[in-house]
Amino acid sequence: MKDILVLGIESSCDETSVAVVKNGREVLSNVIESQIKIHETYGGVVPEIASRYHIEAINGVTKEALKRANVTLQDIDVIACTYGPGLVGALLVGVSYAKGLSYALNKPLIGANHIQGHIAANYICHEDLKPPFLCLVISGGHTHLIHIKNYTEFEILGKTRDDAIGEAFDKVARVVGLGYPGGPKVDKLAKEGTPNIALPKTHFENLDFSFSGIKTAIINMHHKNPDINKADLCASFEKTVTEVLIENTKRAANQLGIKTIALAGGVSANSYIREQFLKFGQEENLKVYYPEPVLCTDNAAMIASTAYYNYLEGNTSNMYLNAVPNLKI
Ligand code: KG4
Ligand code: ZN
Repeated sequence: MKDILVLGIESSCDETSVAVVKNGREVLSNVIESQIKIHETYGGVVPEIASRYHIEAINGVTKEALKRANVTLQDIDVIACTYGPGLVGALLVGVSYAKGLSYALNKPLIGANHIQGHIAANYICHEDLKPPFLCLVISGGHTHLIHIKNYTEFEILGKTRDDAIGEAFDKVARVVGLGYPGGPKVDKLAKEGTPNIALPKTHFENLDFSFSGIKTAIINMHHKNPDINKADLCASFEKTVTEVLIENTKRAANQLGIKTIALAGGVSANSYIREQFLKFGQEENLKVYYPEPVLCTDNAAMIASTAYYNYLEGNTSNMYLNAVPNLKI
């Protein structure tokens, strides 16, 4: 079969990213321009500012992605972009740009689901990984336990009823004064601490999650005792949320008789979570996969990968493609 080159575009939040990926798995380039430094001042992503920076960045990032891949636009077979979920103004930049390219070049357009993109990051890093498997998508916007039945067929088994796990990481970081984005900072500080603080865990009959209780408990603890050991608090937070993630994943794996687990999304870059899932995999005789850190957080290579599998299924989009901020998987 002829090689398929997909140009992927990601602009759902605060990263402008463009990638060229061959046959869904081989990354020829993956340029990521992060706006973190700009939003840091505000303690979080400011949607309007994000949209404006995407507009400024997207052309240059695309040129750089083509250059690094050593290809021209004529060599590209498919144009893909994230169309949801995400910030509407930010998404519209990528969607409009992709539509323009697709129309001008007369090449097929694929609107990709950002959550499916996070899952596909695992295909790039692990050539042996094939559906079916279970994927725990843990990011700033999502906490989903998903049965990946096929490359384009998904079933949500459980999800958060309130905060996404990444939001909880970012909130804990803010409370203890680590700043934004909090996840990587909590990860680092937790290594110096001992998980000796009891924190609440929420369980449900089904496979849903909840992280607002633990977040509030930490806010209250810190409020009552500002001298509390921050490293111990971060370590205890990580330990408690990881236990819940593993408990639900274990239940799902047992229920479905699935032996392969993948992690995805920004929070799957967390070193403690990765380590504990590997241990869990060894104990339960399960194969555990996660992407390399740069492919855990937002990037366009994962968007090109999921778009490739949709292209093979004939799931192309047309010029009516629009941003869908609350798109479900
Ligand atoms: O996947 P992502 O880049 O964007 C969304 O789709 O939401 O995830 C961003 C989230 C943020 O909440 C960030 O704090 C968290 O991922 N994150 C981490 C780590 N690296 C990023 N959380 C914990 N440990 C990390 N090392
Ligand atoms: Zn994401």
